[in-house]
Amino acid sequence: MKKRYLIGNLKMNILSVEDTEQYLSVFRREMKGKKQESTVTVIAPPFPYLERFHKELPENAALGAQDVFWEKEGSYTGEVSYPMLKDIGTEYVIVGHSERRQYGRETDEDVARKVQALLKGNLRPVICTGETEDERRRGETAAVLEAQLRGALEDLSPMQAEKILIAYEPRWAIGTDRTPESEDILEAKVIIYRMVAAAYGAAVAERIPILYGGSVKASLLDRVCFSAQMDGVLVGRESLFPYEVAKMADIIENYQAPERREGKPEEG
Ligand code: PGA
Repeated sequence: MKKRYLIGNLKMNILSVEDTEQYLSVFRREMKGKKQESTVTVIAPPFPYLERFHKELPENAALGAQDVFWEKEGSYTGEVSYPMLKDIGTEYVIVGHSERRQYGRETDEDVARKVQALLKGNLRPVICTGETEDERRRGETAAVLEAQLRGALEDLSPMQAEKILIAYEPRWAIGTDRTPESEDILEAKVIIYRMVAAAYGAAVAERIPILYGGSVKASLLDRVCFSAQMDGVLVGRESLFPYEVAKMADIIENYQAPERREGKPEEG
């Protein structure tokens, strides 16, 4: 069964060990005894708290990081490498988030290098992609997604390609409480799916989870995930509420797909 992913990106929030403990204690309580057979729930805290999260996350959740540097070690002040992340139990790493592209001047080439590094370290990259509102208005969504992903999808073996996850996050939907229609999200998924299929074949493309991100909350899961035929969600603000993460994990786990939704392509 293809799994669905729920990834909570805590961003630069949770400012103390005390807050971390509080988050984890609520999260453990809310996740207790929850079956997660078809859902993978991942929390990506800020770097300083990764280790604590690793030690105290409930066993039905996995650890993610919000970024990585592409070199393994050396004189790179302020950077964090994949062996370090691996060593403290990280399994998933977000790369190319629009906030890193914006504030950290991260380029598509940087993202590609980070993906290569993570795969070398046997970590799973979550590659973020998405257009701005102007780009959408100009009809450039497909071109933007292709340009952002091209480098990251280059030179991978099919086995490596199967390790990646891709998140479609239209920039205008991040932090804004605006969300695209299910059809628009599905359209972006098809663009991404086709790109992966062209590079690695349909069998590999089928196995790569394509998530939606941007103002996700429990009440919107049907629109942005199920109706849009997405393989999960990347959640920012709402993931700061551990009980909301647990609630979304429940909804995703218990979702039953209707036999066939009328008028929706089976693609992806
Ligand atoms: P948001 O953030 O859920 O707060 O819109 C999403 C993201 O940045 O991945």
